[in-house]
Amino acid sequence: MKVYKIGDYEKFDKINIENIQNHLITWYEKNHRKLPWRETSNPYYIWISEVMLQQTRVDTVIPYFLRFIDKFPNIESLANADEEEVLKMWEGLGYYSRARNLHRGAKVIVKEYDGKMPDTLNEIKKIPGIGPYTAGAVLSIAYNEAVPAVDGNVMRVFSRLFYIKEDIGENNTRKEMEKIGQMVISQNNPSFFNQGLMELGALICTPTSPKCIACPLFMECTARKLIVQETLPIKKKKIKVKSIEMELAVLWKDKKILIMKRPTEGLLANLWALPSVEREKNTEEGKSIELELEENYGMHIKKGKYLFEKQHVFTHRKWKMKVYAFELIKEQKIDYPEIQWISLEEIKKYAFPTAFMKVIKDIR
Ligand code: ADE
Repeated sequence: MKVYKIGDYEKFDKINIENIQNHLITWYEKNHRKLPWRETSNPYYIWISEVMLQQTRVDTVIPYFLRFIDKFPNIESLANADEEEVLKMWEGLGYYSRARNLHRGAKVIVKEYDGKMPDTLNEIKKIPGIGPYTAGAVLSIAYNEAVPAVDGNVMRVFSRLFYIKEDIGENNTRKEMEKIGQMVISQNNPSFFNQGLMELGALICTPTSPKCIACPLFMECTARKLIVQETLPIKKKKIKVKSIEMELAVLWKDKKILIMKRPTEGLLANLWALPSVEREKNTEEGKSIELELEENYGMHIKKGKYLFEKQHVFTHRKWKMKVYAFELIKEQKIDYPEIQWISLEEIKKYAFPTAFMKVIKDIR
């Protein structure tokens, strides 16, 4: 039995690789889930779906995908949209830089490539937001080009199949995994091969309790033979989640509340929000947001009333949000931040991230 180590490419055995390709593709043909982006080889649809699927589960993606392609049926319509509209279609999906990159990418494709998604690795990599994974996914699925598409799921499959004990959190490991992908990909059917790997990672070769009995690569899998499948992949660095105390304002004027557009850079950039601020250390609760409204929004207000607390977890941080209601005495016009007074019915016209939607739901 062979134990592969990254870099030991000469040990990859030809027959084994052919078996892997054949078993995986046959399994995929029989067992894949029918998903909307699998009914098509339209590169634009594949691109949108792959970007949505990068950090989000299939069940969540399906309705977003269908709404997105209904609203923006082709690259040109996406390129011509306002960023506001694109963010609105992404509302609640999270990782909003994905939406901004798609929008930017569509503009580049219209300007530089006559609105047609490039079909070579060299060109497709020049599109903003298209990294090695998305490039490989679009080229293989839409154009049947033999380019690997290696994401976290595929790295898990490879680490078990070839018994690779390097840390998959390291950039170098990822690059090596891409080389492995290039070595093992089927030249005849790269589309089904790559999708087979993704589907295997999603349905069989799961992070915990992998279903090895049902696996088409049961015979080829080194980790299964050694019964170490559940110890792989190795991921050393845990993401540290920092807890942050936030204070949010619900400021009423007649029957309307104040909303603001977040800055163009940083967390939740360009999305709409309630006025909010990180609580200053050693200040009285509610004071930080009161000062924020007075000093940065030019709002003369009565003392706030504490309403409730909500939490939201991002990748690297957890917001503990305390919400305060304020009443306006007098407003002084300001240029920045961009603000609006809106009724609760008008909220649906603006793109709010989930953290703020959690709060807004409870104001109603
Ligand atoms: N995860 C990443 N890409 C996928 C795809 N095309 N289908 C299902 N899950 C995926």
